[in-house]
Amino acid sequence: YRIQIDAAGIVLQASTESGIFYAIQTFCQLIKEQLWGEVKLPCVEIEDSPRFKWRGLHLDVCRHFFDVDFVKRYIDWMALHKYNVFHWHLTEDQGWRIEIPGLPGLADISAWRTATGGCRYGGFYTQTEICDVVRYAEERHVSVVPEIELPGHAQAALAAYPEYSCTGGPFDVVSEWGVFDEVFCAGNDATFKFLESVFEHVIDLFPFEYVHIGGDECPKERWSKCQKCQKRINSEGLKNEDELQSYFIKRIEKVLIKYNKRLIGWDEILEGGLAPNAIVHSWRGMDGGIEAANEGHEVIMSPTTNVYLDYYQLEDNDKEPLAIGGYLPLSKVYEFEPIPDKIDADKRHLILGGQANLWTEYVQTTKKAEYMLFPRLYALSEVVWSPKDKKDYTDFVTRLGFHLQRSDQKKLNYSKNFE
Ligand code: ACM
Ligand code: ZN
Repeated sequence: YRIQIDAAGIVLQASTESGIFYAIQTFCQLIKEQLWGEVKLPCVEIEDSPRFKWRGLHLDVCRHFFDVDFVKRYIDWMALHKYNVFHWHLTEDQGWRIEIPGLPGLADISAWRTATGGCRYGGFYTQTEICDVVRYAEERHVSVVPEIELPGHAQAALAAYPEYSCTGGPFDVVSEWGVFDEVFCAGNDATFKFLESVFEHVIDLFPFEYVHIGGDECPKERWSKCQKCQKRINSEGLKNEDELQSYFIKRIEKVLIKYNKRLIGWDEILEGGLAPNAIVHSWRGMDGGIEAANEGHEVIMSPTTNVYLDYYQLEDNDKEPLAIGGYLPLSKVYEFEPIPDKIDADKRHLILGGQANLWTEYVQTTKKAEYMLFPRLYALSEVVWSPKDKKDYTDFVTRLGFHLQRSDQKKLNYSKNFE
């Protein structure tokens, strides 16, 4: 987009609708929210375009549930800072958050857990609510990518449908944090039928061409002792359980391809062999992303080292509310470079962009979510939008003043002693 402001007037130009949308966002920053009295605009000429096509932000609504109003506010914050992909983490061991017609157990059972003190905790989005959010996001030039976790992080689904596990259950929806052994059985064709009917409805709701299937942190304990899983390993000529995981993902990819969707998975999907058209979401550092890009796969970079917003913001974290651990100061987010040197020059275009993740084990309230997001969200927005050679942390911190002022006006609970 292009913005020209001079004595003759104001011109916003772009070749696309989203370009105009971003011109308006920048224009709003220029008027600095002087909502009273005289508004003075600087005479400027701006030509601006994004560095990356994937400027993502993730929200885990499973460990703690966030209602539609909050999700919309989240999307508003994204749009204002020119993020364009909302990664909606909808299923987990601790809760399944999307209503699926024909599978009522997911809303009735999988969406609820027994929390500390014995009370029922949970919730889910109806199909209508999901449609509403997706439309709301579209109006703000944000695409929504749903994540349906498999084969691991699936205990909530198995609490309602234990027949798709290796042991048959019974299971509870999990009420603590961690990685759990109960996963989808890879030897049972009915498991795939179940997942296919889930995806049939998911695909109807989300027009974006990408679907995230998780794929991270899947223990192989149950598979190694399950007759059906072992039979599958034999009949498919697989070497081990890693290859069985790869079989699982490839089989799901075929389902998605049938619907013209592209599969995204966390970097564990590299283990045992990558599905042919999969996009790798690199989170355990950048090595998975480097390997995948060099093999010719598209990649989204979300390394824990630079963009895990559930980490503490201060080294002396006694001064902060309880978080999961780690240390991710503002400066470290700003330093993030989504294209590491180890990616071959002719493969760099395969890095679609970068994304920050907000896991919510210790994010119980919307105020705490704000604290984890801000001001780090401002730093990443510049990383994924602006040219690499224009980056300057000192200058960023100066400009941050305006954003913090605006955060004050909006009564956002941002972290005030960032480093
Ligand atoms: C992840 O953080 N387990 C993808
Ligand atoms: Zn099994």
